[in-house]
Amino acid sequence: MTPSPMLEVKLPTLHELPTYVFDTLLSWNIPGLTRSLVGLYGRPDGWLGRLIGHVMSFEHGPVTRWTLEHMDIQPRDRVLDVGCGAGKALELLAHLAPRGFVVGLDHSETMVFQALSRNRARVLAGQLSVRMGDVGRMPFADASFDKVCAIETLYFWPDPRAALEEIHRVLIPGGRVALSLEYTRDASRAGDLSDTLESSAGIRIYSSAEVLELLEAAGFTALRHEAQPSRSNGWLYVEGRKPGH
Ligand SMILES: C[S@@+](CC[C@H](N)C(=O)[O-])C[C@H]1O[C@@H](n2cnc3c(N)ncnc32)[C@H](O)[C@@H]1O
Repeated sequence: MTPSPMLEVKLPTLHELPTYVFDTLLSWNIPGLTRSLVGLYGRPDGWLGRLIGHVMSFEHGPVTRWTLEHMDIQPRDRVLDVGCGAGKALELLAHLAPRGFVVGLDHSETMVFQALSRNRARVLAGQLSVRMGDVGRMPFADASFDKVCAIETLYFWPDPRAALEEIHRVLIPGGRVALSLEYTRDASRAGDLSDTLESSAGIRIYSSAEVLELLEAAGFTALRHEAQPSRSNGWLYVEGRKPGH
């Protein structure tokens, strides 16, 4: 007997449920709704922003762990997480670099507060800090970090080339940047959604080739990437190295 197409529908996992709801709302293509929803992820604010912060910590758990697995974090690494949101990655990074130092940066005051609350013990122990600021002009001295990651945030950066040059500046020679995304042009089923997001919400959905080009233009070498187009809306991990040492 041929199975009914209904039986072939892939049900979302618990972690995928918020993305599934989000994508369903986006598929209605109501520009005001799309803009507001995406705005909440791009700069979470107020009580809804706090709620989104909790949702993101759960929703982005799998892609966050996948990103950190690639980063080869060493116990003494000084690591910066750009667009740190509610601070889930900071918590995991602090476990991986217990003798190093972990810093989060976000332009949302609501997220800075949540990330600090989540990691209060590490903050008090002097192993972790969170700063408010924009990726295009970061409050850190040159060559401050061994590694920088940016998870699920590149879409929102108005000038990604300048932001990546800024990340290049704060890395030590030989330091590495890791970018990861859950919505990419590489995913076969993300096409319409990407167009809706770009036209209605003014954000940018990249392909792996475009992210690699951006990293190269900002001065990174030894580029490597791994794409998993079938996961969510196209998981992508891209890494580059600042030349030197
Ligand atoms: C979708 S959330 C991802 C948060 C977190 N990395 C995660 O995966 O759960 C994007 C985050 O990037 C931050 N962000 C966006 N644009 C930024 C910018 N130009 N500078 C600093 N932070 C930014 C937002 O405030 C938000 O917290």
